[in-house]
Amino acid sequence: MGLAWMAPAAWNSLEFPGLSIPLYQQSWDQIRLQFPLEKDRIYLNNGTFGPSPFPVLKAVQDSFDKTNRTGNYGNPGSGREKIAEFFGVKSTEISLTHNTTEGINIMAQGLPFQAGDEVIVTTHEHAGNAIPWLNRMSLDGIVLRVFEPKDTQEENFKAIKNLVSSRTKAIAIPHVTCTTGTVFPIRQISEFARKKGIWTAIDGAHGAGTFDLNLKDLGCDFYAGCFHKWMLGPNGSGFLYVRENLLDSLQAIYVGAKSEKSWVLNEHETSFGGYTDSAHRYDYGTQSTPLHEGVVAAVDFHQQIGKARIEARIRELNNYLFDGLSSIGNLEILTPKEQNSRLCVVTFRVQGKSLQEMTSSLGANRIRVRGIHEANLNAIRISTHIYNSFDELDRLFESVSQI
Ligand SMILES: Cc1ncc(COP(=O)(O)O)c(C=O)c1O
Repeated sequence: MGLAWMAPAAWNSLEFPGLSIPLYQQSWDQIRLQFPLEKDRIYLNNGTFGPSPFPVLKAVQDSFDKTNRTGNYGNPGSGREKIAEFFGVKSTEISLTHNTTEGINIMAQGLPFQAGDEVIVTTHEHAGNAIPWLNRMSLDGIVLRVFEPKDTQEENFKAIKNLVSSRTKAIAIPHVTCTTGTVFPIRQISEFARKKGIWTAIDGAHGAGTFDLNLKDLGCDFYAGCFHKWMLGPNGSGFLYVRENLLDSLQAIYVGAKSEKSWVLNEHETSFGGYTDSAHRYDYGTQSTPLHEGVVAAVDFHQQIGKARIEARIRELNNYLFDGLSSIGNLEILTPKEQNSRLCVVTFRVQGKSLQEMTSSLGANRIRVRGIHEANLNAIRISTHIYNSFDELDRLFESVSQI
């Protein structure tokens, strides 16, 4: 039995309108119809949660239906290949996690640090990239060296180099900050770090699904990301990339079925045959096949539109947003002006207005944004994805001007 009885009316618009035209040929207005997003509300908070398009929702729902009809809950093995191909790496380098934070914890707990070893982070971390490193600091006495993000890639690279000492073991920064959307030059930083024997452990929450990303080219050692933001996949799905030659450097702490090569446990013998030769060693136990089917559909969705085309659209919206907000008086734009230092976010403050006043005034106009309390910025973050339009941004400008 299928799920027709619980499908919303708009469901049918998925397989049915628009999809006779391949996604790569569709206009952005047509692509917007693939999203069940409310029409009378402007959603500008993709940086927190990326709403899924119909093909993803349908894949999840079909899989829930199938697993519960058959009892074959399966194992999301094949998705790993697809995810790896999407990011330009090997499937053996991908661990399937539930969110970015889980990947960051695997890095923060698994790297072999001694007390006094130093890790470089920023003052603009999301809790997900702050707490795991602070936890390792309090458990094992590592030292966090912290810098404030600057306005250009050159200055940020310099700030990092200035913090490096003979005790530096890792650079654990975001690809794109959650606060101002500042983009760090990860390729350059990784190349520098490798020469010095420093690991690069990147928080990629805003890197997957925005850039035309190839992790091999990017050159970092580890990259934790999720599918529920810019990849437009289901909530609670993530990944961790671990460079192949570092599998044995990053200790697996939590393990279970499928983490191991072999094991024996009986009255006569107790032996552990070591970890499996892939990043699968970091994930274990029952996973959600429906969520993984949703991830595969999200990867397909991106590929069918085209990764490069998506990045170009994100940049086009970001430029429009940056210029529009910059032309409104009384706003302090906190996102760097430099093109390479921004991508999908613009963050601003209004003189004399609190974060709460701003978010509730915009909310009253049915515009959803995120307040940025991190680093005491007291600012508003606008994050836009391919389903947003210039018209929506014009309405934002009007509302902000009125405030
Ligand atoms: C930069 C950054 N890192 C980490 C996280 C945590 O992501 P997740 O909820 O997938 O663990 C977020 C979430 O917004 C983020 O913006």
